[in-house]
Amino acid sequence: MELNKIIQGDCIEVMRGMPGRCVDLIVTDPPYGDNVAYGFNNKTIKNNENPLINCLALVEMYRILKLNRSLYLFTNWKHYPFLTEFISRYTKFKIRHLVVWRKHNFGLGWAFRHQYELILVLEKGKPKYNLKNFSDVQTASHINHNKLNHPHEKPLDLLKKIIIHSSSEGDLVLDPFAGSGSTCRACEEIGRKWVGIELDGRWIGMDFKVV
Ligand SMILES: C[S@@+](CC[C@H](N)C(=O)[O-])C[C@H]1O[C@@H](n2cnc3c(N)ncnc32)[C@H](O)[C@@H]1O
Repeated sequence: MELNKIIQGDCIEVMRGMPGRCVDLIVTDPPYGDNVAYGFNNKTIKNNENPLINCLALVEMYRILKLNRSLYLFTNWKHYPFLTEFISRYTKFKIRHLVVWRKHNFGLGWAFRHQYELILVLEKGKPKYNLKNFSDVQTASHINHNKLNHPHEKPLDLLKKIIIHSSSEGDLVLDPFAGSGSTCRACEEIGRKWVGIELDGRWIGMDFKVV
């Protein structure tokens, strides 16, 4: 497996080709399954109408994650009940915790403007955590939309904190729904090896090596 590169393709197929227990940490933000377009110019996300993509991915992510390691899965309040039902009934992951990402600033919308996202912490075995002061409410800014950027780009400070909490220098981190590559960028900055997978070439940053 080539490291520190984004693989352009379907993560289900790519993960099926990966050996079991080969990654130290997974941090990912799959399509939310809500079939909407985002931002003022209605950007669409592939597989956003297909919540089953998460189920297929969860099965593969469990297989390729090492024992005693964690998976951080971003989601929203609408998709959360479906995901937790599937995880507890049909996977061997333990749902360890639910972290709330509280944004400094709120986003677009009507009547109830979005100011938080959810991050499910799933465990395979009994992972260790590094930080003594990791709150289950994490406050970080969201990335403002422009015409070109990914509508779900995640902030580097939040990602780095998660990765530091659950891995060590030199560990291999996977993001199978990499989007703009924010998890990959965070790994670069804090000395983790990484692999990103992204289906849609529109989102992959120019500075990444793509295979
Ligand atoms: C919620 S976004 C992730 C955004 C990312 N966290 C970021 O910071 O840019 C989900 C991504 O999954 C991608 N995707 C959808 N189906 C996929 C698949 N089968 N394999 C790989 N990527 C897929 C979409 O193109 C989209 O970019």
